[in-house]
Amino acid sequence: MLDSVVRFAFPTTICFGPGAAKQLPACLEEVDIVKPLLVTDPGLRKTEAYIAIEGILRASGIPFAVYDEVHPNPVEDDVEQAAEAFRAGECDGVIGLGGGSALDVAKVVLVRATHEGPLSLYEAQAGGVERIHGPLPPMIAIPTTAGTGSEVGRGAVITVPSLGRKILVFHPLLMPKRAIADPELTVSLPPLLTAATGMDAFTHNLESLTAPVFHPLCDAIAIGGIELVANYLERTVKDGRDIEARGYMMIAAMMGAIAFQKDLGAAHSLAHPLSTEFGVHHGMANAICLVPVMRFNRDVAAKAYAKVARCFGINTFGMSDFEAAEKAIDAVADLNRRIGIPGSLGEVGIEEEALALLARKAFEDSCHKTNPRPCSEEDLLMLYKEAYGQ
Ligand SMILES: [Fe+2]
Repeated sequence: MLDSVVRFAFPTTICFGPGAAKQLPACLEEVDIVKPLLVTDPGLRKTEAYIAIEGILRASGIPFAVYDEVHPNPVEDDVEQAAEAFRAGECDGVIGLGGGSALDVAKVVLVRATHEGPLSLYEAQAGGVERIHGPLPPMIAIPTTAGTGSEVGRGAVITVPSLGRKILVFHPLLMPKRAIADPELTVSLPPLLTAATGMDAFTHNLESLTAPVFHPLCDAIAIGGIELVANYLERTVKDGRDIEARGYMMIAAMMGAIAFQKDLGAAHSLAHPLSTEFGVHHGMANAICLVPVMRFNRDVAAKAYAKVARCFGINTFGMSDFEAAEKAIDAVADLNRRIGIPGSLGEVGIEEEALALLARKAFEDSCHKTNPRPCSEEDLLMLYKEAYGQ
């Protein structure tokens, strides 16, 4: 229960629905952007989503510059070059278009376009929050996936090669002024990426629900997000043009990102080194690790997991929380199977010999500190072994 004063903040204005992208010119005007820098990645530039956004800007006569070189795991150079394009183009705001990587770079450009380098000065854990001063140029986020929910977040993760690791840049001023969530922009995402990004959204909701932080508003949002994924993810994977299902998955992704201001858990600590060391897709890594983590947490998180079972439509009447929690774990494993998530770490190319190194890295990651059951490095190794052999 609450023993101190806390602050709850949900400040993003979200423009949601099929065709929402057409409101981009109005949104630019509302936040006083005259010439935006459009930040995206090279793969996206060939998609219907990019063509649609470029068309909307051109049709409205809005001048814009483009930076389209964002890497899948964005690096410092992406930010520096985009900031250079911002200055050279005499831009006064940013549009981030894409998945989490493009949106993260778009946020950090706001800092480097207005603050001296190097970027590492602004690392959250190294006092960076105090070094960021407003006003920053406004930013509009347009997601093309339903997963990270970065469009409603105030943080960004960028790899800094000179440090040999990722840094988190975080500040309330990095929050996009508008999130334009148009499910029509996500229809070209292939089934396996739809499944993986959707399971990232699911994991955000699930891990934030069990993070031991007092935030009943976020808990309710997390339950809502879990229910949406349970109802709609399989539909989006089976039929990418199902706009209703795509739309609800975008909502679920935003709910996950709003909820995880509470924090995450062990699945994210296990997933992060799988991506940085071996390039496994982040959502895929979460999906594969989540079931072992749920088994590990079952006894301490039984009450929350019983609610998860009900989100999957399971009638838990007469069951103990433990029995209902078991049903929830089975339901998540079954969802993974139905949407084509590989069954084990071996299937995504991880060798058993790598697990000890991965466990060391996972233990250094801070997400597991808010796992409902404390994790030692040995526990994380055991969880990897389970994910390897499941
Ligand atoms: Fe995630």
